[in-house]
Amino acid sequence: MRQPLVAGNWKMNGSREGIFELLKGIREGVKDLAGVDIAVCPPYIYIPEVQGQLHGSPVSWGGQDLSLQQQGAYTGEVSGSMLLDFGCKYVIVGHSERRSYHAESDQQVAEKYQSALDVGLVPILCIGETLEQREQNATEDVVARQLDTVIARCGIAALKNGVIAYEPVWAIGTGKTATPEQAQQVHGFIRGMIAQHDSAVAEKIQILYGGSMKPSNAAELISKPDIDGGLIGGAALKAADFLDICKAASFQA
Ligand code: 13P
Repeated sequence: MRQPLVAGNWKMNGSREGIFELLKGIREGVKDLAGVDIAVCPPYIYIPEVQGQLHGSPVSWGGQDLSLQQQGAYTGEVSGSMLLDFGCKYVIVGHSERRSYHAESDQQVAEKYQSALDVGLVPILCIGETLEQREQNATEDVVARQLDTVIARCGIAALKNGVIAYEPVWAIGTGKTATPEQAQQVHGFIRGMIAQHDSAVAEKIQILYGGSMKPSNAAELISKPDIDGGLIGGAALKAADFLDICKAASFQA
């Protein structure tokens, strides 16, 4: 049985003061929870603060991205080993906002996935289709291409130590959620694809859903057999909402 993971992607939100309150709420609330992995991914600059506040709690933390490079003259970049230096367990790679606003290609995302593994971080690989692609019935082709590029570059065994997040672009920040059936259909497809290479890896890997997941829809989504938790944007910015989603996941464990 896979233990669910609920990870908050704070994106470029928060302030020093706001984050202090948010973390305080999360730290208190998780005391009553079991059977669920929990993580938050703050903007880089807040990671030391998060480490200070979450150290010793069951909540992990991670980066929202990492550099393709290890170190050197790359202004503005942050490497995987730097994230590790501040206690990160996870790093998100290939979020659709990176793919679209920073033109990250499938190949670059695959390189980042490998860089994360190389330093011992757990990559959370985001894949998903746009509305236009869904309307053209290209959803499976798109997620297959995104995933295949990682498998070709890193090998199937590389998925043993990673997490996948299916994030339909049309559901991100829009309030529109994929129905549990729509999401399950794609999650099942992704797991089936991995199983064609290695059934043990397919059975083990956590596949999260992301895209307007909130307390009111989390339980139903996570009850689906191939949905192993969520990557949460907006609803991860309020402790009560984030904790309610964690609770919904913990009941399914
Ligand atoms: P929302 O939950 O705000 O739709 O964002 C989802 C997401 O992009 C998580 O990475």
